[in-house]
Order: sequence, then structure tokens, then C-alpha cells
Amino acid sequence: MINKNAKIYIAGHRGMVGSAIWRTLEKQGYTNLIGKTSKELDLRNQQDVLEFLEAEKPEIIIDAAAKVGGILANNDFPYQFLMENIQIQNNLIDGSLKVDVKKFIFLGSSCIYPKFAPQPLKEDYLLTDSLEPTNEWYAIAKITGVKTCQAIRKQFGKDYVSMMPTNLYGTHDNFDLKSSHVLPAMIRKFHEAKENNNANVVLWGSGTPLREFLFVDDLAEAVVFALDNELPEYLYNVGTGTDLTIKDLAELIQKVTGHQGEIEWDSSKPDGTPRKLMDISKMHDLGWKHRVELEDGIRKTYNWFLENIENYKEVKL
Ligand SMILES: NC(=O)c1ccc[n+]([C@@H]2O[C@H](COP(=O)([O-])OP(=O)(O)OC[C@H]3O[C@@H](n4cnc5c(N)ncnc54)[C@H](OP(=O)(O)O)[C@@H]3O)[C@@H](O)[C@H]2O)c1
Repeated sequence: MINKNAKIYIAGHRGMVGSAIWRTLEKQGYTNLIGKTSKELDLRNQQDVLEFLEAEKPEIIIDAAAKVGGILANNDFPYQFLMENIQIQNNLIDGSLKVDVKKFIFLGSSCIYPKFAPQPLKEDYLLTDSLEPTNEWYAIAKITGVKTCQAIRKQFGKDYVSMMPTNLYGTHDNFDLKSSHVLPAMIRKFHEAKENNNANVVLWGSGTPLREFLFVDDLAEAVVFALDNELPEYLYNVGTGTDLTIKDLAELIQKVTGHQGEIEWDSSKPDGTPRKLMDISKMHDLGWKHRVELEDGIRKTYNWFLENIENYKEVKL
């Protein structure tokens, strides 16, 4: 068991994932959490990261810092998605090894798995075929992070573990229509269309791809589970184990927001991978399971969006 006073550095603690992890750790009685904004510490700078880690000597690091974005952002800025993510994770992981950080939890995403891998996606499918081209830059950076942690595990016997969440959503998400993920983008579009006399909502793609969504607080509990227990393997999927079509998702969000117009599908926009469902049996076997079902999670997120309508996050490309 980790001591509740252990110093835990959460990289990216103001992001959707990092802030959920911070809240969950606080709720569970962890008292010595540290975080730095990107203005205070640019994780792309190797020297600055090493000096910070040498000064603070955290016992545990949770890496929830990354350059994150949807299909369009990945497609338009391949270099930044590849390079910045590699820089951030390399500086944190190599710095952790140098200052002897006991435990490191690396967060990636389901895009690390091949585009046409069998479904549901098992951890073993990593590197068995080619990636989805629209976000391969981000995926290659994340695969490098998984492999770096695995190499440290293998060579130095340290508890460095990677967790791959499915698509996440929840409070503190990015609601910018160009750079956000599908679920928050839909919440905003349906809300604004409702306010605009129930105008029609135009959505990207065909609506047929299948996707899985996990409420971010559930992911945070999985991370705390990984912190409290020494997990036996190097890589774990985290999800709900169920998926739905983008069309069904749109109808659910339409219902929650109360929009009453039509939905139009713009099939000139890319769909991405046809299906992405995680096999989460490894985490289930260890005893973790999600708690928030999709409709409930969308309601929580929409309520938060309404409460923060003046100042919700919009990441500009
Ligand atoms: N969102 C999803 O659907 C999803 C799904 C699966 C996995 N994940 C994983 O979860 C992790 C976090 O995602 P998120 O959705 O929480 O993203 P987010 O809300 O954009 O947060 C990312 C955080 O990273 C920090 N950051 C970015 N560049 C930095 C830099 N150069 N120096 C220091 N800090 C930097 C930002 O700090 P500031 O706020 O201080 O600028 C921000 O707090 C990522 O590894 C991502 O792959 C996310």
C-alpha cells in the first residue's frame, strides 16, 4: 500500500484527466499532491523537468500531460502531436528513472492499437498491424511511452505501468468545435442549436462507427487502483466494455440536451476507425470496474457545461 502522505506529482493536473485524478486522490485521503501548469513548467524542456524532479523528488508520478486533440487537430498538426508528446513523456520517464521515482503511471489511449485489429481490443494486439492514419502521429508517441515504461520494468524491475483508456468525457473537457473530441463537440452543438430555435445539427461522418466512452472519474478511480496495487503486467486497457454507434450517441445527447431539431450527417468528413472497443478483462480480473453509465455521465457533463457556460475550456489550434 502507498502511504497517504507519499509525494505524488500529477503531470497535467489541470487537464480533464489530471484534474479528475487529483480530485479522486484527495477524496481518498492522499495529502501530498503536487502539480505545475505548463506555464510554470514546460514539460518539453528536458533540463527544466530534471531540475524540478531533482528538487521535488516525488515518490510517484502520474503522467496525464499530453498534447491532445481530435481527428482534425491530429491531421493538421502531425509534427506537434508526434514530437511534443514524445518530448513530454521522455522527459518525465527518463527524469523519473534518474531521480529514482518508485512508481510511474503512464496514460495513453486506445489509438495505439492497429486500425483493423480484432474487436474487442486486447493488450496483446499492440504492434501487430498498421495504425489508423488520421492519428498515427499521436499513437506512435504513445506507443513509445508504453515501450519506454516496459523497458524500465524489464531492465530495472520498477513499477512503471501504462494504462490505455478508451474515449473519455466528463467535466473540464475541451468544448472547442475544431480541436475537441466527438462527445463534447456534440454536447456543445446540440446545446447551441437548441438555443438557436432548435436549428438542425450537422455532425461529421456517416454516424456508423462504433465507439466506447468512459466517464473521466471512472478512469481516475482506475488510476488510483493502479496506484494502490502493484499491477503484474506492463499495459492495461480501461473502459466500460460496451460501445454504441455515433448515431446512437448523437440521439442520446440530443435527448439529454433537449434539442428538438433534425440531425444531418456530413459524410465528406472522415469517420476514423470503424470500431474501437476495449477488452477490459485484465482490469476486471484484478477487481476494477466502471461505475458511471453513459447517459448518467452525459447528464453530469451537460450540467457541468451549463454551470460553466461562461468559461468552459476551448483549446485553440
Ligand atoms: N480525453 C480523452 O478522451 C482521452 C482518452 C484516452 C486517453 N487520454 C489521455 O489522458 C491524458 C490527458 O488527457 P486530457 O484529456 O486530460 O487532456 P487535456 O485536458 O488537454 O490536459 C492535458 C494537460 O497536459 C498539460 N500539458 C500539455 N502540454 C504541456 C507542456 N508542454 N508542459 C506542461 N504541461 C503540458 C496541460 O497543462 P496546462 O493546462 O497547464 O496547459 C493540460 O493540463 C493524455 O495522455 C491522453 O492521451 C485522454
